[in-house]
Amino acid sequence: MKIHALITQFFAGNPTRNLSWKHQSRRKNCSNQFWFVLLFSIVMFFVLLCFNHLFFLEKTIGSVSFPGNSTGSATYFPGKLKNSSKDSCFGRYVYVHDLPKRFNEDVIKDCQLITRPTDRFSMCKSLENSGFGPRIRGSNGSESWKNGWFSTNQFMLEVIFHNRIKKYDCLTNYSTLASAVFVPYYAGLDLRRYLWRSDVSTRDSTGIDLVDWLTRKPEWKRNLGKDHFLISGRIARDFRRKSDRKSDWGSNFRLLPGSENMTMLTIESGSSKNDVAVPYPTYFHPSTNFQVHEWQQFLRKQNRPHLFSFAGARRSKQKGPIRAEIINQCQASNKLCNFLDCASSSNKCDDPATLMNLFRNSIFCLQPPGDSLTRRSTFDSILSGCIPVFFHPGSAYTQYVWHLPKDHNKYSVLISGKDLRAGKVGIKQRLQQISKDEEQAMREEVIKLIPRILYGDPRSRLDTIGDAFDLAIKGILKRIEMLTKENIKI
Ligand SMILES: *[C@@H]1O[C@H](CO)[C@@H](O)[C@H](O)[C@H]1NC(C)=O
Ligand SMILES: *[C@@H]1O[C@H](CO)[C@@H](O)[C@H](O)[C@H]1NC(C)=O
Ligand SMILES: *[C@@H]1O[C@H](CO)[C@@H](O)[C@H](O)[C@H]1NC(C)=O
Ligand SMILES: *[C@@H]1O[C@H](CO)[C@@H](O)[C@H](O)[C@H]1NC(C)=O
Ligand SMILES: *[C@@H]1O[C@H](CO)[C@@H](O)[C@H](O)[C@H]1NC(C)=O
Repeated sequence: MKIHALITQFFAGNPTRNLSWKHQSRRKNCSNQFWFVLLFSIVMFFVLLCFNHLFFLEKTIGSVSFPGNSTGSATYFPGKLKNSSKDSCFGRYVYVHDLPKRFNEDVIKDCQLITRPTDRFSMCKSLENSGFGPRIRGSNGSESWKNGWFSTNQFMLEVIFHNRIKKYDCLTNYSTLASAVFVPYYAGLDLRRYLWRSDVSTRDSTGIDLVDWLTRKPEWKRNLGKDHFLISGRIARDFRRKSDRKSDWGSNFRLLPGSENMTMLTIESGSSKNDVAVPYPTYFHPSTNFQVHEWQQFLRKQNRPHLFSFAGARRSKQKGPIRAEIINQCQASNKLCNFLDCASSSNKCDDPATLMNLFRNSIFCLQPPGDSLTRRSTFDSILSGCIPVFFHPGSAYTQYVWHLPKDHNKYSVLISGKDLRAGKVGIKQRLQQISKDEEQAMREEVIKLIPRILYGDPRSRLDTIGDAFDLAIKGILKRIEMLTKENIKI
């Protein structure tokens, strides 16, 4: 009543009449006045509402006035700030270079060209579902975690990562605002087209072309490429060919002067500090936190009848003496060890269901070096809650420093490859020394690592859980911040 009176007093044409409104309340023109007041209050209500809204907008505009076009409510990062007076993307903006198609789309267009005779299915199939590959059939079960499984090819990491970064919540079209510049070049798939059949200049040509394109861009000039990064689904060594002999392996991409200034994420790094290892992609690409939790719960209840297992093939005497010893020891351990021979013609080593069943039923999974120090199988075994057993620190500890804990005794076992070859240590004996309590604690650590080593489905969102992609971005932003600071000092 008071407010109505005040409003009418100030805004209506006849203040005197309004002042005497109370006394006239039972008279006929009162009803006119009443409707007038009501209308006015409604109008004022909306005016106030708008005013409030404008005020609110002003506050938020103040915080998101960066032209980054980020969606403020998206929460990919666990520690993301929910503070309206601060831009939550500050320091996390990534600019993605719009590369000519010859560096990515065209590389995978002719998918037969990147398919090898030894591939389980053509790369055309592996490219399905944003690079996750075909959905695993029979995954229609009632448990939700069964929906996130795919036959993923390890070489697809470049496509998987590219599709995922397109959904990153702090992308910007303004490169000056960006803390990091992503170069979506499919380095490994490009090389795969020529690796076995061509002369070195064909293998090197796209890389040279790319560096030439990048170094002409204004984005390059700012930090001479030190804030640029790319990803490779092949090991770093493949891009560091030492000579120009045709028989020598790989390309020279990472030896080019411009390329050296960028950071390359790769499934296996070498001696160069500019290559940083990230997990191989595995078969599980969940789209919700719930799917991850369900799978973890399922693993905790698993019965594991085998003490240890190994899925792999023998290598020649010179190349892989550890493998021969491991296979011998496994076969001599009877039912304690389960060996899946990937050299046999009918092998099922590329079949996700077979592999996951093997690892899911084992307490420890042996991960010896093969053609190179690391194996995708390491991540398959973590995904199955199987404690990995390494024979070289370079198989994981010195590689995945952003993704795996520093204290490796918590989640894995290291057996010296040298001692094994010298017959000083038996695998079965070493593993049997580990108490049930220790084993239980290690397995729990492994199960907790699962979200950190998987690449979630970009078509929906894992919130609050940081996955392998999130950790890679976090790591690269920190690294680039350090590198560009150094730059300023110089
Ligand atoms: C932000 O995104 C919208 C579409 O969602 C687009 O129309 C607009 O141009 C973008 N703004 C900037 C600054 O990039
Ligand atoms: C928001 O950020 C400002 C400055 O960074 C800080 O002073 C304030 O306490 C924060 N508020 C909340 C609710 O976190
Ligand atoms: C999965 O379920 C859909 C419909 O719910 C059905 O059409 C499809 O055949 C099922 N696939 C398998 C492999 O069971
Ligand atoms: C960048 O620009 C493109 C094309 O103009 C637009 O489609 C995209 O949404 C923009 N992205 C951001 C993060 O602003
Ligand atoms: C790479 O960085 C160094 C400085 O560390 C610089 O001298 C060199 O010119 C850079 N290379 C290119 C191609 O920008």
